[in-house]
Amino acid sequence: MARTCVGIVGAGPAGLVLAHRLADQGVECVVLEQRTREYVERRVRAGLLEHRTVELLERHGLAERLRELGQIHRGVELRFAGRRARIPYTELYNGRHMMVYAQQELVADLIRLWIARGGAIAFEAEDVALSGLDGARPELRYARGGRDERLECEWIAGCDGFHGVSRPSIPEGVLRVHDHRLPFAWVGVLAQVAPSTEEIIYAHHERGFAGHMLRSATVSRFYLQTEPDDPIEHWPDDRIWDELQRRLAVGDGWKLREGPVLEKNVTDMRSFVVEPMQYGRLYLAGDAAHIVPPTGAKGLNLAVSDARVLADAIAARVHQGDSSLLEAYSETCLRRVWAVQAFSLWMTWLIHRLPPDTPDLELRTRLQKAQLEVLAASRAAAATFAENYVGIEGL
Ligand code: APR
Repeated sequence: MARTCVGIVGAGPAGLVLAHRLADQGVECVVLEQRTREYVERRVRAGLLEHRTVELLERHGLAERLRELGQIHRGVELRFAGRRARIPYTELYNGRHMMVYAQQELVADLIRLWIARGGAIAFEAEDVALSGLDGARPELRYARGGRDERLECEWIAGCDGFHGVSRPSIPEGVLRVHDHRLPFAWVGVLAQVAPSTEEIIYAHHERGFAGHMLRSATVSRFYLQTEPDDPIEHWPDDRIWDELQRRLAVGDGWKLREGPVLEKNVTDMRSFVVEPMQYGRLYLAGDAAHIVPPTGAKGLNLAVSDARVLADAIAARVHQGDSSLLEAYSETCLRRVWAVQAFSLWMTWLIHRLPPDTPDLELRTRLQKAQLEVLAASRAAAATFAENYVGIEGL
């Protein structure tokens, strides 16, 4: 039976950043991933990195291609009532900037650099099962290439996302589950077209929210508000472009370029958190423990933040015999998780068209516009938005 110090389930941002940070602190670990390398390196997801996420990647020598191909962003544009309001978050928040870099590119970098440094990773690890979590030597069993494998660990990191096997391995009743479904969904669109903006646009519109995100000089990402469970078949390409043109329109002659749609899907929105984020020698990180509405693009950054806290806690235990950081792991991460949930939910309710059955619908819609007006007019309000959007230091 193979042995390691930390068995990491899942090769997403949480698992891979954890592996690199542990290895940089001299802690041995093995990553198990159920999918093929090709699959995880091509899976289109998020793509906006907070200042502190970029800093962490740089500290571990993981940011070379990010610096080369990623785009630095210093502001974001809100649109409402046919007008624009820019939030210059770098100016408002001590020079901190964001970076646009597709998550699948980041994952590909993290995997390439992990393998290049001799890191252990098993792709196509099927039927991963966790056992002995409340004992001294938990175990991971899996099948690979037709062989049954066993990996004995000191700790297991559940970085296998929302649909993974780690969280369900925790006995019934241990976790407090917060699961809040939002009455919104997003049609996510990836299009072969140069962006029509230099900064990300969030548009509040009577037809529903629209977002113009960025990916590269030739590919753009868009989001359109729709109803939960709305099938993608209801969104032929010409309807997508028609709605984007209408919802992003401003009165100053700005035009949205159109192009071939490469990919489109509908994602529901939820706020999901489990407490605690640990059980015995299993520690959950990233989407395995929490899901935030995609509005503020915080999921990836929270996953990296959890990985930072967990790596440091395990390293302190291994090298100094100090268990205090491990014992405080959940509490430490949840402080940031709840703050990010609060901001993401606030922003989501601010810029989405409210459901028709909302009590006092007209009044609440007026209040949305008023809050957007305040963000456009008040430097203090914009600064609070900037700090949350870029990522609050010290949480
Ligand atoms: N066994 C092994 N691997 C698994 C299993 C399993 N049973 N279940 C899932 N995985 C793998 C998935 O294939 C995926 O590669 O775990 C990985 C989890 O990665 P992510 O879902 O990316 O989760 P995380 O690392 O927490 O990153 C969260 O990614 O999905 C975005 O929007 C999300 O931005 C957020 C970020």
